[in-house]
Amino acid sequence: MIALTYRYSWGGPLEPWEIHPALNHFPIAFLLAGVALDLYAGWRAKAHLMPTATGLLVAGVLTGWVTALAGLLAFWTVPAHTGRAHDLMYWHLGIQAASLLLFAWAAWVRWRGWSVPPSIAIRAIGLVAAVLLSVGSAVGGYIVYHGGAGVDPELLAPAVRGSHSHQPDHEGMPMDGSP
Ligand code: HEM
Repeated sequence: MIALTYRYSWGGPLEPWEIHPALNHFPIAFLLAGVALDLYAGWRAKAHLMPTATGLLVAGVLTGWVTALAGLLAFWTVPAHTGRAHDLMYWHLGIQAASLLLFAWAAWVRWRGWSVPPSIAIRAIGLVAAVLLSVGSAVGGYIVYHGGAGVDPELLAPAVRGSHSHQPDHEGMPMDGSP
């Protein structure tokens, strides 16, 4: 097997495009838990749980923006992947950005009225944002598991390795310096 090195590789155990998958569980967990708790609180008329749901949404939005920045870093540095995965990256970006903006809006309104039960409209926005987040994250998973994005290119078929890359030298350079 040829050992390849990549232009944007840090050469350590965590490459720049691997920060995003390490972080993305946090906003997904906070935001979906916030929406689920809020639905439960509304359904069982447990108003005292609503501020906790708001806190989860705020935590999700804050970690979401950090994750989105790491996503942009992954977008600019990720090595070999299929052309389809490349196209889907734009959908992933757009859907996740739309979801985060909706969550940010809902969290902001709820934060300002901390002790007041949220309106139906604000709750509905959270629900729509949760559906978008789930779809967008599934697309993110598809990019990795069906498109090879973020997988060490040495493990990919040569056709995928040469297909699409955000590395200027496409296939990477052998580590021994040979052409
Ligand atoms: C809160 C917002 C976001 C969430 C929750 C999210 C979630 C995910 C998930 C679940 C994956 C699959 C990775 C895995 O299986 O662990 C993924 C991959 C990916 N996402 Fe996102 N994403 C977000 C925003 C973004 C943004 C704004 C971009 C910019 C284009 C982006 C670019 C990528 C790329 C390039 C991959 C594939 C490979 C890699 O990370 O190395 N993501 N994302």
